[in-house]
Amino acid sequence: DPNPGADPGADPDPGADPNPGADPDPGPGADPDPGPGADPGSCSGNSVERKIYIPLNRTAPCVRLLNATHQIGCQSSLSGDTGVIHVVENATDLDWALSTGPHPPYMILLDGKLFSREILMRLKGNPRISGLAVAAVSPAPSGGFSPGLKCPNDGFGVYSQDYGPQFSHCNGSAWNPAGSGLSYEDFPFPIFLLEDANETQVIKECYRAHNVPREGSAPQFPLCAMQLLAHMHAAASTVTCMRRSSLQSTFSINPEIVCDPLLDYNVWSSLHPINSSGKVDPGQQLILAATRLDSHSFFWNVAPGAEASVGSFVALLAAAEALQAAPGSRRLPRNVLFAFFQGETFDYIGSSRMVFDMEQEKFPLRLENIGAFLELGQVSLRQDSVLWMHTDPVSRQNRSVDSQVRDLLAALVNSSSGSGVSVREPGFSQPLPPSSFQRFLRSRRLPGVVLSDHRAAFQNK
Ligand SMILES: *[C@@H]1O[C@H](CO)[C@@H](O)[C@H](O)[C@H]1NC(C)=O
Ligand SMILES: *[C@@H]1O[C@H](CO)[C@@H](O)[C@H](O)[C@H]1NC(C)=O
Ligand SMILES: *[C@@H]1O[C@H](CO)[C@@H](O)[C@H](O)[C@H]1NC(C)=O
Ligand SMILES: *[C@@H]1O[C@H](CO)[C@@H](O)[C@H](O)[C@H]1NC(C)=O
Ligand SMILES: *[C@@H]1O[C@H](CO)[C@@H](O)[C@H](O)[C@H]1NC(C)=O
Repeated sequence: DPNPGADPGADPDPGADPNPGADPDPGPGADPDPGPGADPGSCSGNSVERKIYIPLNRTAPCVRLLNATHQIGCQSSLSGDTGVIHVVENATDLDWALSTGPHPPYMILLDGKLFSREILMRLKGNPRISGLAVAAVSPAPSGGFSPGLKCPNDGFGVYSQDYGPQFSHCNGSAWNPAGSGLSYEDFPFPIFLLEDANETQVIKECYRAHNVPREGSAPQFPLCAMQLLAHMHAAASTVTCMRRSSLQSTFSINPEIVCDPLLDYNVWSSLHPINSSGKVDPGQQLILAATRLDSHSFFWNVAPGAEASVGSFVALLAAAEALQAAPGSRRLPRNVLFAFFQGETFDYIGSSRMVFDMEQEKFPLRLENIGAFLELGQVSLRQDSVLWMHTDPVSRQNRSVDSQVRDLLAALVNSSSGSGVSVREPGFSQPLPPSSFQRFLRSRRLPGVVLSDHRAAFQNK
């Protein structure tokens, strides 16, 4: 980064001023002997490092993400942030780090049960905190946990001032009541998940040996400290970051990557072949069967939320395989396009790209060719083997759309009889849950149904 000083993440960084290396003992290790840390100049840096540091091997960072206007997520300063370890096993343990302890900045080792919005917001505003390591909880908390929004994809679906304003901002239907919104906050310090309970134990032992206040008085140096390093060059907003990236690649011999686009590929395939270099005849109608491929998580590459999307994309893959193997499928009057969308959590980037390509004639189909849309939402946690058929009350005000939707509902009811799964409608005036179908509806009033295991709020907590 040619201009780290302009990095907003670097300024409020408490780790930068009280340089922990200047302490009598940097002591991040379990080594009780202050000797080697006090005089690092006299011997080889590597062997000192090996004596005083214990590397953590199973961790996952929270990373920084940008959109057009904001930054969210976490980062450390360039060389990592350091602080005296303080273990927090219940909320009252926080006071020591937040106000009374004499050795700030503190690195908090937080019990996973306390990883909540309330506690993180208290830490976020306090300059005495230099970072956070969260011990994974197992089994998962029974009340559920979601760092997403109560109203996922708010503002990027179909409902707005101009289209069903009574339904915009999830009015009257909170789909994700457990959502804390933590994934959308901007934290000025690094946050890591500790995935291995044994490693958490190593840190706790060092804390107990050196850092616990004895008989009310503060512990003396040497203290046990921890350094967390997850520097992110990206800052401020996508616009800023892309400008810096292009400066780097223009003027530097070894350009440093400042930020990466969120990038992946939608996957699609059809029952009957489609000539991908031609155009499907405008009169030909097919069925688009769609689902999403991924989920978002607070910690990099640790994705408990995948549970919500895996059930549906495995089901759609199975349907595609079964259908092409079924006798008579060649003679079906309508072709079926199976589509798997990427990155839907982030403003529906997968489905909105396909809609864009269809509108720009960069796809073998046009929106007009979609005779019916069938989407699998979250389908794996059925209660009493019920699937709910969600439809859009606004487009159904049009008689012709409504009659096509009714045909679709009738076909689903018909085909579910005897299958052990019953399908039901949630009620005519309920809007669609967050779904890729909403992005298609923004461009054209297509008849469509979203199947899910939840009638209103998500079952999957
Ligand atoms: C960017 O993200 C922030 C935080 O989630 C949000 O408040 C803002 O509206 C988003 N900006 C755009 C253009 O979507
Ligand atoms: C943690 O330590 C225990 C006892 O030493 C050991 O049995 C277990 O396999 C370790 N777990 C991991 C994930 O390394
Ligand atoms: C991580 O692995 C290294 C090398 O195997 C080991 O020395 C160290 O103790 C491990 N860290 C923890 C916290 O167990
Ligand atoms: C596919 O479409 C292109 C352009 O219309 C045409 O030239 C080509 O012959 C078609 N291929 C097949 C196999 O129909
Ligand atoms: C209903 O939608 C069809 C196209 O789907 C359109 O041709 C027709 O004009 C619409 N009817 C009304 C009353 O808006």
